[in-house]
Amino acid sequence: MQAILTFHGIDKHFGGIHALKDVSFEIEKGQVCALMGENGAGKSTLGKVITGVVQSDSGAMEFEGRPHDPHSSLDAQRDGISIIFQELDLFPHQSVAQNLIIGNLKLLPRQAGFLSDRALDAMSRPWLERVGLDLSPSTPLGRLPIAHVQLVSIARALSMESRLIVMDEPTSAITNEAVDTLFSLIESLKKDGVTIIFISHKMDEIFRIADSIVVMRDGAYIGTKRRTETSPGEIVSMMVGRQIPEGSHQKSWKKDKVVLSFDSVSTAKLKKVSFELHEGEVLGVAGLVGAGRSELGAALFGIDAIREGSIALEGRRIEEGSPRKSLKRGIGLIPEDRKLQGLLMQQSVRDNVALAVVERNHILGFMKRSHVNSLVGSVFESTRIKAASPEVCINTLSGGNQQKALVGRWLLVGSQVLFLDDPTRGVDIGAKEDIYQIIGELAEKGRSIIFVSSELPELLRCADRILVLCQGEIMGALPAEKTNQEEIMRLAMGLNRMKFADS
Ligand SMILES: Nc1ncnc2c1ncn2[C@@H]1O[C@H](COP(=O)(O)OP(=O)(O)OP(=O)(O)O)[C@@H](O)[C@H]1O
Ligand SMILES: [Mg+2]
Repeated sequence: MQAILTFHGIDKHFGGIHALKDVSFEIEKGQVCALMGENGAGKSTLGKVITGVVQSDSGAMEFEGRPHDPHSSLDAQRDGISIIFQELDLFPHQSVAQNLIIGNLKLLPRQAGFLSDRALDAMSRPWLERVGLDLSPSTPLGRLPIAHVQLVSIARALSMESRLIVMDEPTSAITNEAVDTLFSLIESLKKDGVTIIFISHKMDEIFRIADSIVVMRDGAYIGTKRRTETSPGEIVSMMVGRQIPEGSHQKSWKKDKVVLSFDSVSTAKLKKVSFELHEGEVLGVAGLVGAGRSELGAALFGIDAIREGSIALEGRRIEEGSPRKSLKRGIGLIPEDRKLQGLLMQQSVRDNVALAVVERNHILGFMKRSHVNSLVGSVFESTRIKAASPEVCINTLSGGNQQKALVGRWLLVGSQVLFLDDPTRGVDIGAKEDIYQIIGELAEKGRSIIFVSSELPELLRCADRILVLCQGEIMGALPAEKTNQEEIMRLAMGLNRMKFADS
């Protein structure tokens, strides 16, 4: 084998956290090397060390036989290495084209100067086409759904024409078709001799695309396996070093009590949506990107105006919604984009977890700090958040642990209705089980949950019924026990429509 990148004893601390522990291994040239491990295992940190975003405390790297010691991502780009970040670090107020070009040594013109919109357009369009994005390069990035933002960041990395590309969970938010496009791009990059480091929690994707699989656990390198000589089971046990109990949720909803109802609700995106959510029910929501899944939450929270129809909570019509009022009414939301809508990235984990409960109690009365601390402590325990302490800034946590903090926030509030928008995106297998467990427990306590997900197996497992949306319309409401992935996909693609199963 010919190594393109070699690590010699890479070590990295962040304060009290030992993020990388004496990591040594090699990556083969021209291959797809998957990097797997639980949340907080050190995958993103290693990716950042390779691309100069973070510097290791000790150890060394060799790239193409020469010492590699980048001090910024521009250094790494000059050496022929680029990265697609897990937490998309683009600029929402700038256009798609500007996002492709900022800090991009390949696209940036040699002589500084004004770039006309036409020039920007011409430069960026071919790269957008390569990832299957058909949109105007002058569109502000912030207007795009997260799936498209992720494709823009992939296009950006491709346009740098690097010899090594680190992809940190590039498929966490894109559709199945976009995954196919990305995978054929990866195949063609491989033909050109480009090496890919592919970080993902999705086992099926790893086994489709990877040549070799590197496993990390608690900052340490555990081992490398050739894809053809291993199995998902073996990788999981390398990752966790323990057996994961695969529980199943006791479905316990009571059909007789309706908690929330949508009556022919139309918004800019939704078309005459009607359904009922019952006490103790987990209502799954399936659909392709753009089907209107998140817009159900936007209607519920008063973020999108209701043009027609009405929403009632426990029989009382919700006249005028707002996120604050929803909180008061006992409706909680975990948004799809935790960074833009959910978390206060500059504040501590403690404040992020306590945010909603403090705000709610503010309405009811004063809360003692020691009481808040003990509540937050209980959330840390039940969700197994991995952080040095509750006082550290939330943006220092790994992606999956940030997500757990967001779930934990609503555990404290005890909302009657919870809208979870893809709560397990970027969360590892062990933590996913924890979140499923929490959802099951909440339902048993009589809470009602709307659970949006792109992963059908998890909907089939956790939900009592599954609503399928297509282009803003409900195509069916299927009892989870009597349906399967194929049936849901057919509805989601608009191939047929079911009669509404209940109510
Ligand atoms: N800037 C930072 N400051 C402090 N701690 C950090 C920082 N970046 C990462 N860490 C910590 O280092 C550890 C490794 O984090 P990393 O993001 O590399 O994990 P990961 O394997 O990518 O996890 P995930 O699957 O959740 O994305 C975590 O415990 C994380 O909290
Ligand atoms: Mg990560």
